[in-house]
Amino acid sequence: MCRSESHRIVLQIGGSIAAFKAAALASKLVSEGYELQCILSEGGRRFIGESTFEGLTGRPVLGDIFSAGRALDHIALADWADLILLYPASANRICRLRSGLADDLIGALFLANNFRKPWWIAPAMNINMLRHPAVSQALEILGGWGCRVLPTGRGRQACGSEGEGRLLEPDDTFKLIREHFA
Ligand SMILES: Cc1cc2nc3c(=O)[nH]c(=O)nc-3n(C[C@H](O)[C@H](O)[C@H](O)COP(=O)(O)O)c2cc1C
Repeated sequence: MCRSESHRIVLQIGGSIAAFKAAALASKLVSEGYELQCILSEGGRRFIGESTFEGLTGRPVLGDIFSAGRALDHIALADWADLILLYPASANRICRLRSGLADDLIGALFLANNFRKPWWIAPAMNINMLRHPAVSQALEILGGWGCRVLPTGRGRQACGSEGEGRLLEPDDTFKLIREHFA
């Protein structure tokens, strides 16, 4: 619980079939007193709508780095946040972060933050995507730079495969966040 002291979390939602789980996590965090700012990636918007997160958090969802009046969000959010979480993190996003691409808000925030605030990555993808050297090596590099890569779960995946790569469940992610701030 964090009701006595507000903790600020940037929740970035990537383009995975598991994006709906971010709504459950956002709901839990808000109900436990955390302050949330959500960012939807271009891919994330194909899976879940921004009204869901605006409704849950009471804050407009960010995403477009070129929106009028929002040009310095990538700088301001790194100052504002206590924790920055990418949940779910797609294979595409993981490889982009590893390359330092900053052509959207998530990429620009990653560089502007430069590990001043904790940056967590919760991968969610098909087992073969997760095992691909492009992705597995990117995760190793990101971990070596200082990102916390959350474990994936095992089980049946949306595509029908069995194995690793399922997004860490919202309740388990919430527990890690609570422990982090304890
Ligand atoms: C139905 C569907 C489900 C997908 N699920 C995943 C997924 O779970 N993980 C993943 O890495 N990519 C998945 N993809 C591919 C990503 O959505 C795609 O690479 C996208 O560009 C990622 O967006 P982002 O970079 O904004 O996260 C899926 C694509 C489709 C059409």
